[in-house]
Amino acid sequence: MVTDFDFYDEKFQNFPHQTYRTMQDTCPVHNNTEVGWYAVFRHAGIMAIVRDNEMFSVRHGPGTNYADEHSVPVLVGADPPLHTKQKKAIAPAFNPKIIAALEEPIRAFVQQRMEALAELVECDLMAELADQVPMFVISELLDVPFADYPMLRDWVDVMAGSTLQKAQTMEADRLDKLRKIADYFLPRVEAKIALDEAGEDPGDDMVSLLVKGRIDGERIPTPQILGFAQFLLVAGAATTTVFIGSFFNLMMDHPDQWAKLKADPSLLDQALEETLRIESPVHGLFRTNNEPITLGGHDIPADTKIGLMWFSGNLDPEVFDDPLRFDIAREPKVLRKHLSFGHGLHTCIGGPLARMEARVVVEEFMKRFDGLKRAGPLVPYPFPTLNGPYKLPVRLIPRKEN
Ligand code: HEM
Repeated sequence: MVTDFDFYDEKFQNFPHQTYRTMQDTCPVHNNTEVGWYAVFRHAGIMAIVRDNEMFSVRHGPGTNYADEHSVPVLVGADPPLHTKQKKAIAPAFNPKIIAALEEPIRAFVQQRMEALAELVECDLMAELADQVPMFVISELLDVPFADYPMLRDWVDVMAGSTLQKAQTMEADRLDKLRKIADYFLPRVEAKIALDEAGEDPGDDMVSLLVKGRIDGERIPTPQILGFAQFLLVAGAATTTVFIGSFFNLMMDHPDQWAKLKADPSLLDQALEETLRIESPVHGLFRTNNEPITLGGHDIPADTKIGLMWFSGNLDPEVFDDPLRFDIAREPKVLRKHLSFGHGLHTCIGGPLARMEARVVVEEFMKRFDGLKRAGPLVPYPFPTLNGPYKLPVRLIPRKEN
């Protein structure tokens, strides 16, 4: 039985696929005594947990740390009935019509980025494209100026990074950024509340929707609205950034798949889904068990942190044939079983938006460019929560007819 799995090992972080496969076969539930959390590697094991909301809870938080007095339970950190009520309050902002209406401004923004890229021979594709598009979208959703994005991005990196942090290593930094985010959003939220109280409409962005929303006839408390804004920033931006980066990175590694996609652009949705499967943007997130439980032969005391390793579940040969092979022509029905957006009660509500952002980026890219080649080594995302490129130096190959 393999027991030396070290999630924080640099080699693992840079090349996780084969280790995840090995763990599935040799130690499907792993007890990492040093860091104090269990990890579940098989697709079926993860599904069993996300389906059992009586036994498993998120109230101690979605990351390695236990929620404390600074934590506000929001969505991935809230169990029913609070979760049900919060979801009801935000659901209108994610209805398909609202998401579809975002496509036009997103495409206009992406086209501008493509024009800027066309002026460059070489660039870091993350800085020039993959960082900016999701940040543009989030700034629209949260009604904040896009010009603030370098600062927001810095906060997001720390917040995302600290989700799966080792012990307390990033705690001071996390609290500092939490304060900065609160200072940034609080006056904006208060201004919207003042408008709402004066009988004026604060807007149709998500923060305004929460300000206008009521739970059991009561206003949503300001700390929850702040918590939501902070969560959206972390959940929606960096995840989509690494997703877009991974797509282009995979295509550089697999020119045959790129050629296949160019020959048949109707494969784009599958290609994006296969990217999500084989390079899950999030390694995993946590539940705790409400009662003592035996899992994979381990007797686990109540309230233990159990990591659902989405990334590993996506590489399970019991669900995906030859799982380490990148194949954009996989059967869509099977592909959709990937766990990159979680599953069950807390399934990512932003999945359709993230997919649309990536689709628009690739469509516009293909109009302008024939492809891309590496111009330097990839720098991986520096915090262990997320998986994908952080810097991706490339040389862009313009389309011949341009
Ligand atoms: C490729 C991009 C994305 C990935 C990989 C991703 C991943 C995830 C995962 C794995 C969960 C489930 C957590 C769990 O079960 O513990 C989740 C939840 C969530 N995500 Fe995403 N996400 C992405 C993009 C977005 C976007 C663009 C938004 C919004 C703008 C968003 C908003 C949310 C929300 C609100 C939840 C909480 C749902 C709930 O608890 O009911 N995500 N995401």
